[in-house]
Amino acid sequence: MSATPSLRWGILGCGRIAHKLAHAMQTSSTARLIAIASRDQGRADAFAEDYSLPYAHGSYETLLANPEVEAVYIATVHPEHAEWAIKAAEAGKHILCEKPVTMNTTEAERVVAAARTHDVFFMEAFMYRWHPQFIKLTDMLASGVIGDVFQIEAHFCFKSERDPDGRLYNKALGGGALLDIGCYPMSIARRVAGIALGMPFADPTELEGSATFDPETGVDVTSSAVMSYEGKIRVELLCSIQIDKSAELKIYGSKGMLVMHNCFNCEGEIELINKPHATPPLPSDTSRPLAIYEVEAVSKYLAEREAPNMTWGDTLGNMRALDLWREAIGLRYDCDA
Ligand SMILES: NC(=O)c1ccc[n+]([C@@H]2O[C@H](COP(=O)([O-])OP(=O)(O)OC[C@H]3O[C@@H](n4cnc5c(N)ncnc54)[C@H](OP(=O)(O)O)[C@@H]3O)[C@@H](O)[C@H]2O)c1
Repeated sequence: MSATPSLRWGILGCGRIAHKLAHAMQTSSTARLIAIASRDQGRADAFAEDYSLPYAHGSYETLLANPEVEAVYIATVHPEHAEWAIKAAEAGKHILCEKPVTMNTTEAERVVAAARTHDVFFMEAFMYRWHPQFIKLTDMLASGVIGDVFQIEAHFCFKSERDPDGRLYNKALGGGALLDIGCYPMSIARRVAGIALGMPFADPTELEGSATFDPETGVDVTSSAVMSYEGKIRVELLCSIQIDKSAELKIYGSKGMLVMHNCFNCEGEIELINKPHATPPLPSDTSRPLAIYEVEAVSKYLAEREAPNMTWGDTLGNMRALDLWREAIGLRYDCDA
């Protein structure tokens, strides 16, 4: 019996996350990274050398024109995601696109329409959705171990260096906490609420937000939201590029509580606090790189064009909820005009 051939990948953009995916792909038996593209030929050459890649492209266009590349991973700053995802679909390439998938819902709808029209796979790159530790948590939740869910709390915060030219503090590059990391707690809360309500994901019916802004650049440095699901489930979200607080998910139910520490890099333990029964914390298996699971999901679900743990509908729902959150705090970008 012959082995399934590996999917041949190319990456657009040579930034930090591109290196993580390149490293993960090297450990995969279903993915083979063959090409890198940068706006700068020298950066592409250096990246190709690091990972022994046969193709180093000095523009994103030339990578998309490379017939050897079957799938692309879009690792550019977020204002560039929509343009390159649409161009990749038009070139007939399958797509894994970094989060947030686009800047707003209008752009996300165009990307999904392009994937549908050109009949290519498309998925937003929320790595945690595919990690065994998060799947363990969702299985426990679905089994009813904490009863009826009535409160969800999720946060993702880190303290970053204030650099007005860097990606995080520059509005032209999509800077700010809400889009860069707020998309994570929003997506995890929607997934958890969905499971609690018997669906793959669920969108909030009400949302109130508040934020603090950088006085010079106008990006949100800290944003919070309180959401509701028809008054049945209450949700608190927090994201910040100013607070050193890490990432955590807490789910409260009628019979107990589930906590997942470091829930977005999936390195933390899961605690089930279900009095009077004490359950030892469940450690995570971190033997494989976090990114490997989403990369392998692309190969696995390629023929279906979307993957069950992060569907097109889920991506669009997340962008709609992020738009609502942005509206609630008065955060606008040029692309919203
Ligand atoms: N899933 C995750 O865990 C995770 C973690 C971090 C970031 N991300 C997401 O991945 C994306 C990239 O983040 P990163 O941390 O890797 O950022 P980064 O290190 O700043 O790299 C971004 C890359 O985007 C490319 N780019 C294209 N147009 C650009 C422009 N006008 N200005 C600046 N760069 C431009 C550049 O590549 P070239 O110059 O080589 O063309 C640059 O290296 C973001 O959307 C971010 O939200 C995801």
